[in-house]
Amino acid sequence: MTISREGTNLDPWYGHYAERTAGLSASEVRALFAVASRPEVVSLAGGMPAVSALPLDTVAASMERVMTERGPAALQYGSGQGTPELREHILEIMALEGIRAGVDDVVVTTGSQQALDLVAKLFLNPGDVVIAESPSYVGAMGIFRSYQSEVAHVPMDDDGMIPHALTERIASLRAAGRSIKLLYLIPNFHNPAGVTLSAERRLEILDIARKNDILIIEDNPYGLLWFDRPAPQAMRSVDDEGIVYLGSFSKTFAPGFRVGWALAPHAIREKLVLAAESAILSPSSLNQMIISDYLDRADWRGQVDVFRGLYRERRDAMLDALDHYLPDLTWTVPNGGFYVWLTLPSGLDSKGMLPRAVKELVAYTPGTAFYADGSGREALRLAFCYPEADQVREGVRRLATVVRSETELLQTFSPTGPIETVHRPHASAPAPQSEPLHPAERGPR
Ligand SMILES: Cc1ncc(COP(=O)(O)O)c(C=O)c1O
Repeated sequence: MTISREGTNLDPWYGHYAERTAGLSASEVRALFAVASRPEVVSLAGGMPAVSALPLDTVAASMERVMTERGPAALQYGSGQGTPELREHILEIMALEGIRAGVDDVVVTTGSQQALDLVAKLFLNPGDVVIAESPSYVGAMGIFRSYQSEVAHVPMDDDGMIPHALTERIASLRAAGRSIKLLYLIPNFHNPAGVTLSAERRLEILDIARKNDILIIEDNPYGLLWFDRPAPQAMRSVDDEGIVYLGSFSKTFAPGFRVGWALAPHAIREKLVLAAESAILSPSSLNQMIISDYLDRADWRGQVDVFRGLYRERRDAMLDALDHYLPDLTWTVPNGGFYVWLTLPSGLDSKGMLPRAVKELVAYTPGTAFYADGSGREALRLAFCYPEADQVREGVRRLATVVRSETELLQTFSPTGPIETVHRPHASAPAPQSEPLHPAERGPR
């Protein structure tokens, strides 16, 4: 029997997909991974943790112990909410950020990415609005888009999201009759901006969300990876009703296990478990047991210190190199995490410049990846987590060559003469506070 399909030569099922798939597109980060993985390219693009710094023999010993001592259970389906053992460990980890909770409130997920997906699935109808920082995490925006909702950005400065801008944004969206469902925040060592939400602003933003009846997603995969001083305590440490908190083993242990978690208010937690069971039945028993064994026996706090030292060294290498090679530009100064946000001279286009950068054997992520509204051309994200310090320096040197030649090109062909660069004499000092990272705010599409 021949089935008639309104397809194309490339995809015979073209006309059959659900409308929500219109939001599924390969992220710019994903496309980049392919190009940037060539060994001669210094990749400042992907946020890949430095897993080779893990004690691999200790991890292997945990794997072996789990298999020899509890093999059948490890290879079996498990609880949809995750093993009680791992959830106990997760409470210990969250206590380091000031969070107190019960073991029943934790839901183990397949990476925090899945937790984000489940929360979005529970709350978002087509046309709903999610408020997020400007810029925001590309992977979260992809999820929100896949539920046919829209992201409305709110500007940040070096202290994170600006509370009065949030209030204004909520008011204008409400005046336009929009339904605001979620406020998505990455308070610590932001991806991609590198900045941290100040303690005062955490309280202000909590207050605004409470008054406006908006649920906060506090996404915190990088919180323990601080450099000079710990980040302020988690927002969830002062509010256990209005926040779904997300954590992950990806950055402090290893992303290959794909284990993260959500800590949700009681009612939401029940629905989360049902949604998780419907998506995957149960998270990997094997991986949860390996992580529990590792946390029981290894010096995991010491290992987090090792990561902190290593990333601090790479951050310092990046900031020194930026000071040295691109002194006329501005960038954020992260106190933890993986990322620096660099602002280009006005008129340059980070996306258009990327092929030339790759030709010079350096890769980065264009700013446009981190905005739902197409802005971000004059900025880019630099990740210092993966290459070693001297490679980070070399990457910035190559990038500077590209920026200089692009700037010269622009100056040569600009009808208005020389273009402007934003000069900051001490680029490694934080930028003035009230200056948004991205002033050109636009409304939701
Ligand atoms: C802000 C943020 N949230 C969530 C994730 C997803 O992490 P996981 O590996 O736990 O799924 C990432 C990964 O880079 C991230 O940067």
